[in-house]
Amino acid sequence: MTTVRETDDTAASLRAAMVSELHEMGVFQSEAVAKAVATVPRHLFATGEPLQAAYAADKALVIKRDRQGHALSSLSATHIQAVMLEQAEIEPGMRVLEVGSGGYNAALIAELVGEAGTVVTADIDAEIVERARACLDAAGYHRVQVVLADAEGGVPEHAPFDRIIVTAGAWDIPSAWREQMSERGRIVVPLRMRGITRSFAFDHDGKDLVSDSYRLCGFVPMQGSGAYTERLLPVTDGVALQLDDQRQEFDTKALADAVHAPRLEVWSDAAFDMPDELELFLATSTPQMVILHGSKDLVDQGVLAPSVTRGVPALVAGGSFAYRTKRPNEETGGFESGVFAHGPDAETVAARYAELLRRWASDHRRRGAARIRYAPMPEGAAEPSAKVVAKRLGAVEVSWS
Ligand SMILES: C[S@@+](CC[C@H](N)C(=O)[O-])C[C@H]1O[C@@H](n2cnc3c(N)ncnc32)[C@H](O)[C@@H]1O
Repeated sequence: MTTVRETDDTAASLRAAMVSELHEMGVFQSEAVAKAVATVPRHLFATGEPLQAAYAADKALVIKRDRQGHALSSLSATHIQAVMLEQAEIEPGMRVLEVGSGGYNAALIAELVGEAGTVVTADIDAEIVERARACLDAAGYHRVQVVLADAEGGVPEHAPFDRIIVTAGAWDIPSAWREQMSERGRIVVPLRMRGITRSFAFDHDGKDLVSDSYRLCGFVPMQGSGAYTERLLPVTDGVALQLDDQRQEFDTKALADAVHAPRLEVWSDAAFDMPDELELFLATSTPQMVILHGSKDLVDQGVLAPSVTRGVPALVAGGSFAYRTKRPNEETGGFESGVFAHGPDAETVAARYAELLRRWASDHRRRGAARIRYAPMPEGAAEPSAKVVAKRLGAVEVSWS
């Protein structure tokens, strides 16, 4: 039989190995976050899981699913939790609200704010609240306050907050979060825009929310009054479009015909790398951009390029569409980006797409070139444009330097 002592010793060495791995991945920017991850016994928040799974650096553990099997709550991967805590730049003594509870991340935050700080974590699900409370108590974090609430309204009774860290996938930024920010407040939030999600760190500039920081991430969706269902529009067997705009109309019959029509290939001469940065650039460059998903069968048959199997930004115009692909560039040893286009206007959409690829490569091909502004607006007033991703309560503008 394994004793408590043996379990604790094994957990401690697995935790040290996870911290080393996260260091190697370049996740830690500060000593404080690394120390918090090295301190909190993550296995006490992963009850019923093998220790190895609890201490896998880059793996989320599903805590609860809905009847269809979709994850409703998970213990997020330590990797993304550490990334977001670095974005948050939490200081000792701060008041922090976490949206979406599990206990572990709240315990990390408790380490960062110290005894003088305040940590409130809110979850919409009573079962998750109860579980988080039990895990936090078992790990000795009695001072973290766990609240049952739809966090769309924030937690006014504990406001203001110096940091609001959102750990469910948001589609918009509710006014309550802005109103409950302190003067030095920051909101770290995984925000979905045209089918892609990035974690932003928004500060207030006196008028709008602005962020120079964005990181790739994926989260279970927000529930409650801020829930926003994305559309998955089937086009033909093995092809679907993923999009946020509920009003956008598509000629799926013509697009289905286009899938099986001969394709046009255009090569851009531009380098392909940093796919996460490029994806943000493409997805936010025009409201005509959606995410194209295609099956491996269609890739194996040579109909579509492999980029579709994970979802790729695609420009759709009428019954034509274009999306990016790549091929090795023997001169540079890297890759060249290109476009595959289908449909009667394949040439036009391919040319527009290739122009975006060239613009990206010549002007913005580096990390951190985007600046994101969220301008609050009266409900429904934001209009999508080449610069603006419209949200219900505001407009997101992505500018590139
Ligand atoms: C990824 S889990 C949270 C992980 C957690 N922070 C941890 O330490 O691992 C996301 C949580 O957000 C919760 N959630 C979803 N919508 C919510 C809402 N509107 N208000 C509060 N919690 C919400 C879900 O119930 C789920 O437990």
